[in-house]
Amino acid sequence: MPLKQLTPANLSTQDLQDWCSVLNEMTSTDMPNEPRWQPERLRDYLAENMADEYRQAFIYRDESSGDMLGHANLLIFGGKHRDTGVLELFTRPSARGKGVGKALLQAVAECAKQRECENLAVEVIATTPAVGFYDQLGFRRDVVEQRHLLRWDEVDWDKVQEAAGRVAAGYRLEYYSESLPEELLEPYAQLKAYLRGSAEPIALTTDRRGSTDVDRLRDSLQTLRRRGMRSHVMVAISEPYEKVVGLTELVVSEQRPTRADQYDTVVAPEHKSYGLALTMKARLLTELRGAEPQLVDVQTWTAEDARDIKWVNSQLGFVHDVDWYEYETSVEDLLHNLAQ
Ligand SMILES: CC(C)(COP(=O)(O)OP(=O)(O)OC[C@H]1O[C@@H](n2cnc3c(N)ncnc32)[C@H](O)[C@@H]1OP(=O)(O)O)[C@@H](O)C(=O)NCCC(=O)NCCS
Repeated sequence: MPLKQLTPANLSTQDLQDWCSVLNEMTSTDMPNEPRWQPERLRDYLAENMADEYRQAFIYRDESSGDMLGHANLLIFGGKHRDTGVLELFTRPSARGKGVGKALLQAVAECAKQRECENLAVEVIATTPAVGFYDQLGFRRDVVEQRHLLRWDEVDWDKVQEAAGRVAAGYRLEYYSESLPEELLEPYAQLKAYLRGSAEPIALTTDRRGSTDVDRLRDSLQTLRRRGMRSHVMVAISEPYEKVVGLTELVVSEQRPTRADQYDTVVAPEHKSYGLALTMKARLLTELRGAEPQLVDVQTWTAEDARDIKWVNSQLGFVHDVDWYEYETSVEDLLHNLAQ
C-alpha cells in the first residue's frame, strides 16, 4: 500500500526527514519567498496536542522507489469545536497530477468520518495550486484574510521605539515569554473570550483551541511549548484596578525560527482609544529584538474590514502581500465528491 496512516509520535526519523523535504520542495515551488522548514522538533510539532485533541499523519510513498510523494495531517479539536477537523496536505511538486493529493484527502476524510467529525477546514495561500484543487472538490471559501508581513531589516526602529514608549497615563505594560503568572490567567482568558464574542473585526486568528477559560489557556500555552513554539506576550494593565485590559501574542517556532507569527491583539472596549494596541505591539517588537535575534520577518492576518488593527499594523511597517483563504466542507459532501 502506498498510503499509510499513523499517529505522529510513531513517525520514524526517516519519515520526518522526508516530511520536511516535501514541505521544502513545495515551499520552493509554490511560495519561494516563505522560510524553509527545519527537521528539529518536527516530531513535537506534529505529535504534541492539547489533552482533548486528536491528530493523525498520512504519508504516501512511491511503491517501487519508496520516495515520499506527499503527506497530510488531520487535527480534530476538543471542546465545542470537536465537529471540525483541520487538515494540511502537500504533494511533492514532481509528483503532482497523479492522484496523490486525492488519495491522501480520501484517507483524511475517512478518518474524520470514523471519528464522527462532520466538517473539514483547510487554510490555503491564494497564489498556490491548492486553490484549484479545493475548489474542484467542492470546498467553500468561508473566510478571506489578508496576510501582512513585517520585514525585520525594513523596520524603522526609531518610530517603533517611540510608539513603544507612548503608554497612556494609568496603564503599564508587562512582557511574558513562554508562560503567564497564575494570577493573570483568569483576566487574560476573559479578555480572549471577549475577543471571540466581539462583532467588531479585531481578531487576527481563528482560535479553535478556544483558550478562553483558565484551564484551556494554561494547557494551550504548555502545548505550544511542547511543540517547540515559543510564545511572547505583552499585556496592558490598568493601574487603578490592577486589571488586564489588553493583550497581544506572538509565537516563534523552532521549525521555522526566522519567522514570527503574530496572533491575537485585543483591548477591552472601555480602554479603547488610548493607543494601547499600537503601544503593546511596538513594545513586543522591541522585546523580540533581544529575545529572537535570528528573526527575518513577522506575519499577521487580518480581515479586510478590520480597519483599526490594519492601521496599527501599517504604523509598525506591516505590508499586505497575499491573501489566505479558509476553505471548509462537510465530510459527507467531500466523500461524495471524491467518489465522482
Ligand atoms: C493541491 C495539491 C495537494 C494537489 O496535489 P496533486 O497530487 O497534484 O492532486 P491530484 O493529482 O490528486 O489531483 C486531484 C484532482 O484535483 C485536480 N487538481 C489538482 N491541482 C489542481 C489545480 N491547481 N487546479 C485545478 N485542479 C487541480 C486534478 O486535476 C485532479 O482532478 P481529477 O480528479 O478530475 O483528475 C498540490 O498541488 C500541493 O501540494 N499544493 C501545495 C499545497 C498547499 O499549498 N497546501 C497548503 C494548504 S494545506
